[in-house]
Amino acid sequence: MAEKEEQTKPLSTTTTRSYQINGEHDHAISIDLKKHHHNPKYLKCCGYISALILILAFTILMLIFTVFRVKEPVLNINSGKINGLDRASKNTIRLDTNLTVVADVSIENPNVVAFKFGNTTTTLYYGGVVVGNGRNPAGVAEAGKTVRTNMTIDVMTEKILGVRRLTSDLSYGALGMRSYTSISGGVKILKIIKKNVVVKVNCSMTFNITSQAIQDQICMQHMSF
Ligand SMILES: *[C@@H]1O[C@H](CO)[C@@H](O)[C@H](O)[C@H]1NC(C)=O
Ligand SMILES: *[C@@H]1O[C@H](CO)[C@@H](O)[C@H](O)[C@H]1NC(C)=O
Ligand SMILES: *[C@@H]1O[C@H](CO)[C@@H](O)[C@H](O)[C@H]1NC(C)=O
Ligand SMILES: *[C@@H]1O[C@H](CO)[C@@H](O)[C@H](O)[C@H]1NC(C)=O
Ligand SMILES: *[C@@H]1O[C@H](CO)[C@@H](O)[C@H](O)[C@H]1NC(C)=O
Repeated sequence: MAEKEEQTKPLSTTTTRSYQINGEHDHAISIDLKKHHHNPKYLKCCGYISALILILAFTILMLIFTVFRVKEPVLNINSGKINGLDRASKNTIRLDTNLTVVADVSIENPNVVAFKFGNTTTTLYYGGVVVGNGRNPAGVAEAGKTVRTNMTIDVMTEKILGVRRLTSDLSYGALGMRSYTSISGGVKILKIIKKNVVVKVNCSMTFNITSQAIQDQICMQHMSF
């Protein structure tokens, strides 16, 4: 014991003080603690702790509503092509033509957490009629990153042939179509809070028969939870 005292003494003042308290009787300490309850210093300290907890809670709430607020992932069609349209003549498309739309699509995730999405479905409309369906595999857009994928839509040629506008569109040299895409996904905040997000994108676009490319696309999108 004596040896220990010799060791602690030369250390900092705090150690010396604790040594002195330890040297007192337990009784004295308990009285000392009781006194602290009525000590204004003790109340002040309590107030500080409550204030600190409040600030912490406020900060966490602010984070949830700002940094961790789910922002809308943005889908963009960078370019696209309709394969097989080169086989179209000035006034018709042969029934055995396989038309496929391949679009280079990017999904931009502005969130601070990853956006994980499932299969994406796209419906293609021409003259108000469904003429094609597309599927895109599931994927992940990392936080603040953009993923690019090739979206493929198989076009039902017989459906296109049934649209009255076709003849005039073919002679004009371009087919105006609309597409409707739905992406279901989710973001995980702090690994515990999972929020499901559905991004719906409606586009209107023109398929140029000469270049086979998508041009003049205008997209409108909205997100729902
Ligand atoms: C269209 O696709 C089908 C099945 O994939 C194939 O049998 C047919 O030969 C294709 N037609 C043309 C014109 O490429
Ligand atoms: C997604 O697509 C794959 C194949 O295309 C299919 O096996 C899977 O069941 C689909 N998942 C959902 C959730 O639709
Ligand atoms: C999309 O298709 C193009 C051309 O076919 C290819 O070069 C590119 O690597 C593909 N991108 C992806 C993400 O698969
Ligand atoms: C998108 O298109 C679908 C189907 O044509 C329609 O039901 C929906 O109201 C459209 N949404 C927007 C935002 O234009
Ligand atoms: C189709 O594209 C070509 C060039 O690739 C352009 O000269 C032509 O004007 C376009 N047609 C239409 C209807 O926009």
